[in-house]
Amino acid sequence: MVTIVVGGHFGDEGKGKIISYLAVKDKPDIVARAGVGPNAGHTVFKEGREYGLRMIPCGFINEDSRLLVGAGVLVDPERFLNEVEVTGTEDRIAMDGRCAVIEKRHKKEDSADEFLKKKVGTTGSGCGPANAERAHRTIRLAREIPRLRGYLTDVPLEVNSAIDQGKEILIEASQGFWLSLFYGTYPYVTSKDTSAGMAAVDIGIGPTRVDDVMVIYKSYTTRVGEGPLNTLITEKNIEKYPFWQDILSEAKKKGFTGKVNDILAHYLGEKGTVTQRQRRIGSFDFELARYSAMVNGATQMGITCLDKIFPECYQVRDYDDLSKRAKEYIREIEKEIGVNATLLSTGPEPEDVVDLR
Ligand code: GTP
Ligand code: IMP
Ligand code: MG
Repeated sequence: MVTIVVGGHFGDEGKGKIISYLAVKDKPDIVARAGVGPNAGHTVFKEGREYGLRMIPCGFINEDSRLLVGAGVLVDPERFLNEVEVTGTEDRIAMDGRCAVIEKRHKKEDSADEFLKKKVGTTGSGCGPANAERAHRTIRLAREIPRLRGYLTDVPLEVNSAIDQGKEILIEASQGFWLSLFYGTYPYVTSKDTSAGMAAVDIGIGPTRVDDVMVIYKSYTTRVGEGPLNTLITEKNIEKYPFWQDILSEAKKKGFTGKVNDILAHYLGEKGTVTQRQRRIGSFDFELARYSAMVNGATQMGITCLDKIFPECYQVRDYDDLSKRAKEYIREIEKEIGVNATLLSTGPEPEDVVDLR
């Protein structure tokens, strides 16, 4: 079985959290990282410790999983080696020798370039300039870097032969559909497509080999960096959203002050994993969710951070224990998108999930 986990809005939907659950629960033989590169920050907890992983698959928390980084992913050698050390995964991780390598100059350009830094609001991780150079065909590949020599493999060969043997493969994509270079809110996008099809390409498997595409949405929509967020909640429109008025007054009761969107971001704890920038908060964008489910070919849907807007659902693991209002909220999302919500996340720890698969 091959499952791809992909983001349905603007990234940071909680893919890391869902993957950590699947890694523990389904014990995949292989967890492979797809996506752009170290611009992504996946948050995952293992035994109470928090990891913000930018290179290593979050599935590392299952100690029996083989960990792979696909050829489509940009590798920052220093960061990769550091995360290997922190996670203690040296003996079971490898990347494709054809991964392109981010160098210092790519990071420098990403942070210094007025258009990239100011207008697009990139993460400064060097991904855009590195992908541009990759297209120019002058970039270095992982196989040319001596420090990475011990970590190289042919990822498509490993993954396709594992599929032939009936093994379980979990592919973790990064970013979100609306940051796609092809389909997103151009020019406020990342430097590559971010849909499930691209994740398969990143790893080197054909579309016929994918069994499930699980699209992840947060219970509300967030965006970090520049670009439109149509459902942004502000002092001007919060009257339209009785649901969000209640959350706002809850936040104020807890002592949060300032502009409406800042209060909500602080209350919900929405700060970027990579850049520590505050994420903007919007109500759930159904229109964008429906479209991304379509292009991704979603077979299932995961919804995260339910406990943040329904605190009574914190750490609930049984559907019957969810509150009535939370169940109604999920039903509405399912109805609007036309895909079954099979994993409902109720807290940051891997086990905080209602599994309806
Ligand atoms: P990108 O690849 O950067 O798009 O990351 P991501 O989709 O893995 O999400 P990221 O980890 O950046 O952000 C999600 C945040 O929500 C993290 O801080 C998670 O710990 C947290 N989180 C995820 N699911 C839940 C949940 O159900 N409840 C709570 N309270 N927090 C959650
Ligand atoms: P870049 O990918 O660093 O070039 O950034 C381009 C845009 O995508 C910026 O708006 C970033 O904030 C956004 N972005 C890139 N990666 C992520 C991610 O993993 N989560 C959320 N936003 C991201
Ligand atoms: Mg993130």
